[in-house]
Amino acid sequence: MKNKMIIRAALSLTLLLTTGIMAQTKRIVLETAHTSMVLTVGSNGRLYQSYLGEKLVTADNNKLPRGKGAYVTGGMDDQLQPAIRVTHTNGNPSLELFYQDHQVKQVDANVSETVIKLKDPQYPVAVELHYQVFAAEDVIKAWTEIHNGESGEITLYDYASSMLHFEAKDYWLTQFHGDWAAEMKMQESKLTSGIKEIDSKLGTRAAMFQSPFFLLSLNKLSDENTGEVLAGSLAWTGNFRFHFELDQSNSLRVISGINPYASAYKLAAGKTFTTPAFIFTYSARGRGQASRNMHAWARLYSVMEGDKPRMILLNNWETTSFKFDEQKLVSILDDVNKIGADLFLLDDGWFGNKYPRSNDKAGLGDWQPTRSKLPNGIGFLIKQAQVKGTKFGIWMEPEMVNPKSELYEKHPDWVLRLPDRPENYQRNQMVLDLANPEVAEFVFNTMDALIGNNPGLAFVKWDCNRFMSNAWSPYLKQDQSNLYVDYVLNLYKVLDRLHKKYPHFPMMLCSGGGSRIDYHALQYFTEFWASDNTDPLERVYMQWGYSYLFPSITVASHVTSWGKQSLKFRTDVAMMGKLGYDIDVSKMTADELAFSKQAVANYKRLSSLVWFGDMYRLVSPYEENRAVLMYVNREKSKGLLFNYNLNVREHETVARVRLQGLDPKKEYKLEEINLAPGAKPVFPDNGKTFSGDFLMKVGLDICSWHLKALTSAVIEISVL
Ligand code: DGJ
Repeated sequence: MKNKMIIRAALSLTLLLTTGIMAQTKRIVLETAHTSMVLTVGSNGRLYQSYLGEKLVTADNNKLPRGKGAYVTGGMDDQLQPAIRVTHTNGNPSLELFYQDHQVKQVDANVSETVIKLKDPQYPVAVELHYQVFAAEDVIKAWTEIHNGESGEITLYDYASSMLHFEAKDYWLTQFHGDWAAEMKMQESKLTSGIKEIDSKLGTRAAMFQSPFFLLSLNKLSDENTGEVLAGSLAWTGNFRFHFELDQSNSLRVISGINPYASAYKLAAGKTFTTPAFIFTYSARGRGQASRNMHAWARLYSVMEGDKPRMILLNNWETTSFKFDEQKLVSILDDVNKIGADLFLLDDGWFGNKYPRSNDKAGLGDWQPTRSKLPNGIGFLIKQAQVKGTKFGIWMEPEMVNPKSELYEKHPDWVLRLPDRPENYQRNQMVLDLANPEVAEFVFNTMDALIGNNPGLAFVKWDCNRFMSNAWSPYLKQDQSNLYVDYVLNLYKVLDRLHKKYPHFPMMLCSGGGSRIDYHALQYFTEFWASDNTDPLERVYMQWGYSYLFPSITVASHVTSWGKQSLKFRTDVAMMGKLGYDIDVSKMTADELAFSKQAVANYKRLSSLVWFGDMYRLVSPYEENRAVLMYVNREKSKGLLFNYNLNVREHETVARVRLQGLDPKKEYKLEEINLAPGAKPVFPDNGKTFSGDFLMKVGLDICSWHLKALTSAVIEISVL
């Protein structure tokens, strides 16, 4: 009897040692400049999230309660939504995860990575929780690696990137939804008990209806400068899901990851599945700070060349649509120079010979220039651009095919299409089966040939105009459940290879407007097309929405002929993002051209503020009939303020606007720029100087002087 007990004690000691379970509590602390996240290994061996919020004094960490399961598994004792749910090779639908060990690696002075290993005590399934911590930017990037050490396939029914828990009185969710030409509508709601989900099942054009990011305010709805708020975003260019579950004791769990809908993932023996990253920042000082954290992080760590200047594009889509020839395009090259832009971006309609792309019904997939339109090919246009001292870029939609194309005729089995069902078209096109490596290779080769065979080509707009529906991969045959995930993984392989081969080649991410926007794709793209709707009134709201999570350098904003507003208003709106043009320059009046040249010159002089400065949203168009925001450089020596009067009503009283981000001790001169030809400044304090202290405490009267709707002013702020 005594011997048996000794053996049992020895066995459990071995278990404790091998599993790393210690009787005393083990804390794992992730810290940024202003945030702490504390994880605790419980005496039962499980991992818990004990804290996430404003930075704690380290000595107090030990007093934290244990908290909630950090990565709750399905099939055991937790009855709410799990982070992971697995069926083992033998059919057992449960997973238990015990802490094994963890490591902290200092990547550089600012970045560290903590990897926590968890393992099932009975089955060789292991999970690694990865947390990359960006100290200065207050950002944490979390993802998971799931390893199947079994001898057969296991199925992942849920495989979250992150699970977070919150304890607050109330929870407010800010989400962004939309549709084609109506992107980024902001909606705020108080979470109630039970489940709220934001998801996409669209596959390719995944962010068309809902966006893969949100703000979560704790206790009260945060505003720009007050309140606790978490801004989070999933870096995944496919189906995503955010699951918010408010439980019986008013605790909130937030699970972020790939949408497992129609995607129970089959993980082969010996394989590891890496989830996409969930990126989040926590701010105790309102959403303005959360946005600035995200912007700073994105520019340095997640947007292709996010800290480098951009080109001003002149696009032809809005002016020519599919109708152009070589001569017309050469004349547009002159327009680029006339206006002072940097590059002509030739849009859709330049390819296909058997089935020329003269509208959206034919030609997709046949990436040869249409001889009747462009007899001398792309090389000629690139040369012409060079002769004229400008640059040339081109539109592609490499993942798609029109049934009316040579590609489709040659490879009908390369297309996603349900067997025994009619083909389903959206914009007369179908999605190529990127789950098939041969098709992915074709996409890579298409892009490689385009860039490689056309030295001097300076830019690509990568479009994606339809979502998946009636989707079935001929390649995956009977087992379709990995389709949505493998599609994206293979797309990344293509983008990765291209990026390695052409590391500095700039590309715009586009998806029938702004339906594909996430921080994984942006590693390969310098900017994204925010919406086909360029009516500046709509754009004020859209660009406002994007600004919560994305830096302005990424938000392609073009001056077009949409909307009835003045050219000045259209230009001032585009200038608060990454300015470009999609307008017929040859039809501009002398005044319009003079104004535009001046605006481009101003933008070139000041764009570093918009691209790399800190952004402050001062007056929200969601709260007033106007919108005001500003950028300030790191040195606080220069700023740029954009003021839009959307529909301030007769005798409506509007408050003075207090500026932000300036140095209270410095003196600043304010000058209105971007004046229409012959127009006088409308800003009453034009040319005056003020201390930063005054500007931030008393503020400026920047709207009551001008009650006309849809007018704007841009004010340059310079230290004396
Ligand atoms: C959708 C894009 O958003 C537009 O800018 C344009 O490129 C068209 N596709 C071309 O088909």
